[in-house]
Amino acid sequence: MILVGITGKSGSGKSYFAEKLAEAIERSSVISIDNVFSRLMNKEQVIDRIVKEYGQSVLKEGKIDLDIILNNKEIFSRIYEIIGNDLESEVERELKEREKSGEKACIIEWWGLPNTDLVNKCNCSIYIQANAEERLAALKNRETYMTPKSMNERDNVLGTDYASKEYDLVVQNDYNQKVIEEVIRFVKEKMKDQTLLKGKSQGQQPMDITINNAKEVLKKYLMKNKRKLNHSIRVAEVAKILAEKNNVPVDEAVIASLLHDIGKSMTNQEMLELCATREVTMYDFEIFQSPGVLHGKAGAILFEKEFDRESNPEKFDRIKHAISSHVAGADDKMNMLDKIVYVADNIELEKEKKNNGEETQDQKKTDDLLAKIKNGEIENLDDCIQIIIEGKKQRAEKRGVECNPLVDNILNTDDDEISR
Ligand SMILES: [Fe+2]
Ligand SMILES: [Fe+2]
Repeated sequence: MILVGITGKSGSGKSYFAEKLAEAIERSSVISIDNVFSRLMNKEQVIDRIVKEYGQSVLKEGKIDLDIILNNKEIFSRIYEIIGNDLESEVERELKEREKSGEKACIIEWWGLPNTDLVNKCNCSIYIQANAEERLAALKNRETYMTPKSMNERDNVLGTDYASKEYDLVVQNDYNQKVIEEVIRFVKEKMKDQTLLKGKSQGQQPMDITINNAKEVLKKYLMKNKRKLNHSIRVAEVAKILAEKNNVPVDEAVIASLLHDIGKSMTNQEMLELCATREVTMYDFEIFQSPGVLHGKAGAILFEKEFDRESNPEKFDRIKHAISSHVAGADDKMNMLDKIVYVADNIELEKEKKNNGEETQDQKKTDDLLAKIKNGEIENLDDCIQIIIEGKKQRAEKRGVECNPLVDNILNTDDDEISR
């Protein structure tokens, strides 16, 4: 099934475009994520988590008061940390059902799409812009009355950084029929491309394991996710420093780091299915709590599909293992390359920067770790890993979510490998 994502500020015309697209594309339908978001806010476990974070004051008659959530920047800025996983799983469950019922395309529309990973999973993403007056007029027709000032305030609270993502199409909505036609034509063309692309990659020859080829594969999978793509490049830069310090082949550290997150190009459902067909060991936490953490294992399978093992099986296996274990360790033991990728992933500078560019507490902590490694204050990777895991556990506790219980596997070291 082809997934089309439409985003833009409220009143920009997303739902109208989505409807028109659904009319124009055979066997397609729309999911408005606003509805999924509201549904989620009625779920007991979500209510518990939000209350744990912000106290009883966010409740109104036992339910989350959306007015409070959507009008308070401080509260709203952390909402995706709290409900992001649930929201994505809910949308994916819905998508799965529609696919089962034979639908060929689904259009998801939401102003907050760039704040989630969903936008990167779309085969075609569209950002609709509209000027303030047009938006105000559109909102007036629809729901609550807004003044230019209150609309501005709402935009500010919701704080979506639309420029942080790359879209296949950016359109200025001048409420003219021509714009709609342009979008419909574009999506139909894009759908043809997708079908062609799928056919192409199946017959492709596996590549040699080189840094240049790794860059190509990284682009292929994470092209649309500029943030993740840049993150992967920065992880590779840090991994290079760590590899030099620890006598690990630099090219392996760079390749594994560039590719460590390619699994994030898949939906949770796709990751689960891919891992299940390959009979990869999966734990309860990965299946039921947070399937997104399977992106390491799923990414390792993508690596296997893209690269040639025959020319250098040891190198191939080491890199695959590092990709697979970068989220929460390995089923067997961790070697130096695995640990380098894990540490680099967690201490690269920008990792914790939020969409709006503000530094968080976590950011400051990771800055310290990189500085300490660089100036020799931390020599041992295990010490660094201890600090990272401790930090993860503390943050999970503070947020009232379960920390991936598998992280302790990270310190499960293969001593023979250490000397390598
Ligand atoms: Fe990752
Ligand atoms: Fe990562």
